[in-house]
Amino acid sequence: MELILCFVYLVSLMLFQAQANAISDKQALLDFVEKLAPSRSLNWNASSSPCTSWTGVTCNGDKSRVIAIHLPAFGFHGTIPPNTISRVTGLRTLSLRSNFINGHFPCDFSNLKNLSFLYLQFNNFTGPLPDFSAWRNLSVVNLSNNFFTGTIPLSLSNLTQLTSMNLSNNSLSGEIPLSLQRFPKSAFVGNNVSLQTSSPVAPFSKSAKHSETTVFCVIVAASLIGLAAFVAFIFLCWSRKKKNGDSFARKLQKGDMSPEKVVSRDLDANNKIVFFEGCSYAFDLEDLLRASAEVLGKGTFGAAYKAALEDATTVVVKRLKEVAVGKKDFEQLMEVVGNLKHENVVELKGYYYSKDEKLMVYDYYTQGSLSAFLHGKRGEDRVPLDWDTRMKIALGAARGLACIHCENGGKLVHGNIRSSNIFLNSKQYGCVSDLGLATIMSSVAIPISRAAGYRAPEVTDTRKATQPSDVYSFGVVLLELLTGKSPVYTTGADEIVHLVRWVHSVVREEWTAEVFDLELIRYPNIEEEMVEMLQIAMSCVVRLPDQRPKMLELVKMIESVRQIEIVVNQPSISSENQVESSTQIPLTT
Ligand SMILES: *[C@@H]1O[C@H](CO)[C@@H](O)[C@H](O)[C@H]1NC(C)=O
Ligand SMILES: *[C@@H]1O[C@H](CO)[C@@H](O)[C@H](O)[C@H]1NC(C)=O
Ligand SMILES: *[C@@H]1O[C@H](CO)[C@@H](O)[C@H](O)[C@H]1NC(C)=O
Ligand SMILES: *[C@@H]1O[C@H](CO)[C@@H](O)[C@H](O)[C@H]1NC(C)=O
Ligand SMILES: *[C@@H]1O[C@H](CO)[C@@H](O)[C@H](O)[C@H]1NC(C)=O
Ligand SMILES: *[C@@H]1O[C@H](CO)[C@@H](O)[C@H](O)[C@H]1NC(C)=O
Ligand SMILES: *[C@@H]1O[C@H](CO)[C@@H](O)[C@H](O)[C@H]1NC(C)=O
Ligand SMILES: *[C@@H]1O[C@H](CO)[C@@H](O)[C@H](O)[C@H]1NC(C)=O
Ligand SMILES: *[C@@H]1O[C@H](CO)[C@@H](O)[C@H](O)[C@H]1NC(C)=O
Repeated sequence: MELILCFVYLVSLMLFQAQANAISDKQALLDFVEKLAPSRSLNWNASSSPCTSWTGVTCNGDKSRVIAIHLPAFGFHGTIPPNTISRVTGLRTLSLRSNFINGHFPCDFSNLKNLSFLYLQFNNFTGPLPDFSAWRNLSVVNLSNNFFTGTIPLSLSNLTQLTSMNLSNNSLSGEIPLSLQRFPKSAFVGNNVSLQTSSPVAPFSKSAKHSETTVFCVIVAASLIGLAAFVAFIFLCWSRKKKNGDSFARKLQKGDMSPEKVVSRDLDANNKIVFFEGCSYAFDLEDLLRASAEVLGKGTFGAAYKAALEDATTVVVKRLKEVAVGKKDFEQLMEVVGNLKHENVVELKGYYYSKDEKLMVYDYYTQGSLSAFLHGKRGEDRVPLDWDTRMKIALGAARGLACIHCENGGKLVHGNIRSSNIFLNSKQYGCVSDLGLATIMSSVAIPISRAAGYRAPEVTDTRKATQPSDVYSFGVVLLELLTGKSPVYTTGADEIVHLVRWVHSVVREEWTAEVFDLELIRYPNIEEEMVEMLQIAMSCVVRLPDQRPKMLELVKMIESVRQIEIVVNQPSISSENQVESSTQIPLTT
């Protein structure tokens, strides 16, 4: 009976294939969720294109075909309805891991000729493994933690592109085909399978090449370490020299920004630093001027200083230049920003306004900015930024920005989202700083070059930041997190590369691993999540502002990539446990 059904489907599939395109892909996906509804809601709206905003769906460059489906842990209960997913014939990646899918492996998947990545681990599949011969390009297959029975098919050992495979924790029996013995034992554990013993020939002998590679690697590693040590030495010397903090007053007088401007406190004796409610700071301008200060950086709107006060308080003071509004408007904005309290928004503690000087006082974040994390300290000293942390930074920043967009009657714009304005809070989540300033600064003050990589195309013309342009900039930050590259960078050949354009050009061809930061390669099992995040980032940097997702939607999308939250972000977990719990993130199924 099943066989007949299968045959019928296969025939009808062949007919379908002729007219396959994005529209039929879309219908196939809608049919799929109609027949097998997930318990987590999907934003698959029949009136929108699957390529622009559908959760877990990725299209090729010209948006003509769906090429990847990632729906891990969405709560699918039941069997995969025949003649649904199998109609998406351009599919290269399919992930339905960690659901409750049961029944036999869908026979019509043999239609997915381009399938390269298949993740179905942690489901309840039963019956024999499929015939793999249909998928000539299959390179990663994970069927672990199911209830597959029978033997390991020879067709699996025949796949020339297969680089990674896992069949562990099933009910398989028999022998492991010879050429599959190149995979680690852990790929087969939890089955009743044995090694094929009959062949005397070692299946893999690339030891000669191997040792050559090893020697080469050792040489490269040794020279890298040498170089890194040198860089570290220079860096140490340099930072020693910097530490002897000048007083803040002297820093201002030396005028890192504008030599002619000196804080004229005699003139403005009446002006006090205004602190917001609930702020525990109790220093005045005098204290601040005496504090030892260190330049943290020159931002878009002025320089930022780290000021260590005599009572051991450390704050960040931002000195604004070219404020384009009067005192009243300035104070009004400060009120809005100062009263915005959210764990993912850097709190404005206070401000100072006089004719000549506009200062803003923030908490100091010991860990530095995302930009420093990603682009600073290359070399031996470098602490790699792992995937979990990157996800938490993205999620935190998204939440912070979503909160900002809800303020002031849903009209508040950040205006200057960039990795140097995102910090890590105590829980290692992203935290957004510098909000709202774009609206009060005179736009001529912002050098185009500085904002270039983050600026949405429409802003270049209008010079007016909006919520959708914030979303664009946020998308660029996501791309930075994924690629490890700066938004604008120069190649060896002095060619200026815009990150967004570069990613587009790479991705247009194929969703290729080349996009991703090399530093991420060491972490197992994150490929799907990275691709999902890439898809989210790409949806933020689309050309038309009204096609970009809203921040609240983005928060949901990022949350759906991985449910880190429930476990990690609970208030009951103390910060000491933080590191431990964030490295071992359990899969919530
Ligand atoms: C689907 O999209 C249309 C137009 O884009 C919109 O009017 C409608 O509210 C959306 N429906 C859902 C359920 O999101
Ligand atoms: C399979 O991939 C190849 C090359 O990437 C492409 O030309 C072809 O159209 C794809 N097949 C389908 C059915 O999408
Ligand atoms: C398999 O992948 C190669 C490149 O990796 C591509 O050229 C070819 O078209 C693919 N074949 C199929 C059947 O998808
Ligand atoms: C899936 O398998 C698990 C573990 O054996 C079992 O507890 C669960 O009831 C099964 N669920 C379905 C929907 O078959
Ligand atoms: C393995 O591949 C060879 C040649 O490509 C083919 O003749 C043979 O039938 C395949 N075996 C299986 C079990 O798919
Ligand atoms: C397959 O899934 C298991 C369980 O999540 C994981 O440990 C393993 O690394 C995966 N293997 C591959 C090849 O993806
Ligand atoms: C294999 O499955 C059993 C039962 O579901 C589970 O307890 C065990 O942790 C799994 N092993 C691995 C390596 O995932
Ligand atoms: C296979 O999956 C199991 C979990 O079921 C994991 O412990 C093991 O490390 C994986 N092996 C490989 C080679 O991916
Ligand atoms: C494992 O397989 C062997 C034969 O290959 C069989 O004799 C044995 O009973 C099996 N063990 C289990 C626990 O199924």
